[in-house]
Amino acid sequence: MFNNKLYFEHLNTHFLGRKHKVYDKCTSTQDVIREYSNLDGFVVIASTQTKGRGRMGRSWFSSDNENLYFSYVLKNPHLRNLQIINLLVSFSLCELLSEYGNFKIKWPNDIVFNYKKVAGILIESSIVNKSVLYSIIGIGLNINFKYLPKELQDRAISIKSITNANIEKEILLAKYFNIFETYLLTYLNNSITIDLVGKWRELSAYYGKRIKIRLNDDEECFIEKGIDADGALRVTREDGSEKKLYYGEIV
Ligand code: BTN
Repeated sequence: MFNNKLYFEHLNTHFLGRKHKVYDKCTSTQDVIREYSNLDGFVVIASTQTKGRGRMGRSWFSSDNENLYFSYVLKNPHLRNLQIINLLVSFSLCELLSEYGNFKIKWPNDIVFNYKKVAGILIESSIVNKSVLYSIIGIGLNINFKYLPKELQDRAISIKSITNANIEKEILLAKYFNIFETYLLTYLNNSITIDLVGKWRELSAYYGKRIKIRLNDDEECFIEKGIDADGALRVTREDGSEKKLYYGEIV
């Protein structure tokens, strides 16, 4: 059950999340939202997903009615640079969760608490002739699992297990949209700048640390040096040479 009244009471946005559709069960919110892909800011929320998916072709465990699974549409003029949008989504989630603890970002966009994953972000875009028609931003946020498959127990955590707080998912979702829309409109307003580089330094779980990155089928060790103004990850090799990474994952 999704309490629409509670959701709208807490939503202060101009366009984001104002129109929505709620499913008790669907395949994946990333798929069903395609029907609404011409509606900027539209959101699809599901209590559970039968084919929830994550990055790199993985599946996303979606237990019934315990967590938040949602996807929303962004269109122009709200789309400018996907790398930066990706950063803004991660910053917004960390800010949203800051009242419950010290949440960090594991590059490119996992939200972690003590290196355990609490939220995952999947951004899929429709690109025609090199221009992005729309992006679908999908977020899975672990609020309260009662059951977690064995293989995830060492790697995932829920907010409830960290704080024991009772969390209304409608309020959390509305607050997320309030925060993300403010970041987005600030970023798109050319007269105001967000210190993306400084914010990354503050929120990255691995800033200045040694990391192993999987790129295609290769793995390589680097030191994380922060983010560039274009959203790429700056890393150095052991010989001191620099590299910029636009995709990959920390293993
Ligand atoms: C990842 O960490 O690999 C990304 C996970 C994204 C999961 C969310 S849940 C809502 C939306 N629907 C999906 O099928 N996936 C995203």
